[in-house]
Amino acid sequence: MSATISEATIRRLTVDDVGLFRSIRLEALLREPSSFASLHEDWNNLPEEEWRRRLDQTVFVALLKGEPCGMMALRFHQPRKMRHRATLTSVYVRRAERGKGIATDLFIAVANHAQGRGVRQLELGLNAENSAAIRFYRRHGFETVGRVRCGFLHDGVGSDEVLMSIALESEPGIVDELESLF
Ligand SMILES: CC(C)(COP(=O)(O)OP(=O)(O)OC[C@H]1O[C@@H](n2cnc3c(N)ncnc32)[C@H](O)[C@@H]1OP(=O)(O)O)[C@@H](O)C(=O)NCCC(=O)NCCS
Repeated sequence: MSATISEATIRRLTVDDVGLFRSIRLEALLREPSSFASLHEDWNNLPEEEWRRRLDQTVFVALLKGEPCGMMALRFHQPRKMRHRATLTSVYVRRAERGKGIATDLFIAVANHAQGRGVRQLELGLNAENSAAIRFYRRHGFETVGRVRCGFLHDGVGSDEVLMSIALESEPGIVDELESLF
């Protein structure tokens, strides 16, 4: 746990937190279907062991009064020459709690954790139409590094994927810098 800008508590999930993980991930997929590549119906049918296995990845949640209201996950690249890279995934904050700095708190925790694991570069891909999220990432130092035409295809409708990245090595004081924004 760490100090936060918002009133949320940020905590990394362990394999014993499958219930928490399930509830916030399914909420995200249900409420913001256009923001994610995965479908609610696919995750909703996963057996317990698969949820547990997916907690192999690093998942942070934001808690308000003990209840999850947001999440952010990290996927570390495995090949030796790519271990300085990690991908930010599953970024979500409940609508009623947005604009309070909760995603910023999650990002600070995730970026610190990644830096601690030797990651120098965080990357992500998102729907080009998701302007609120693009603004959020830009404000925190991400740059657009590419665009995949028709990166997402759902029910026959395509939308572009924007690729963004931030170099953590050049931001040793990322936490201080972010906190000074608020
Ligand atoms: C993108 C998302 C995670 C941002 O979450 P959030 O908790 O609202 O983010 P923050 O509060 O940290 O920052 C968002 C805004 O609130 C403002 N803000 C932050 N802290 C604040 C505070 N203490 N008081 C007032 N405003 C604040 C920020 O300035 C920012 O403004 P902006 O709209 O100009 O960027 C959220 O909109 C979301 O879940 N969207 C749906 C899912 C999604 O798109 N996920 C991304 C997929 S890649």
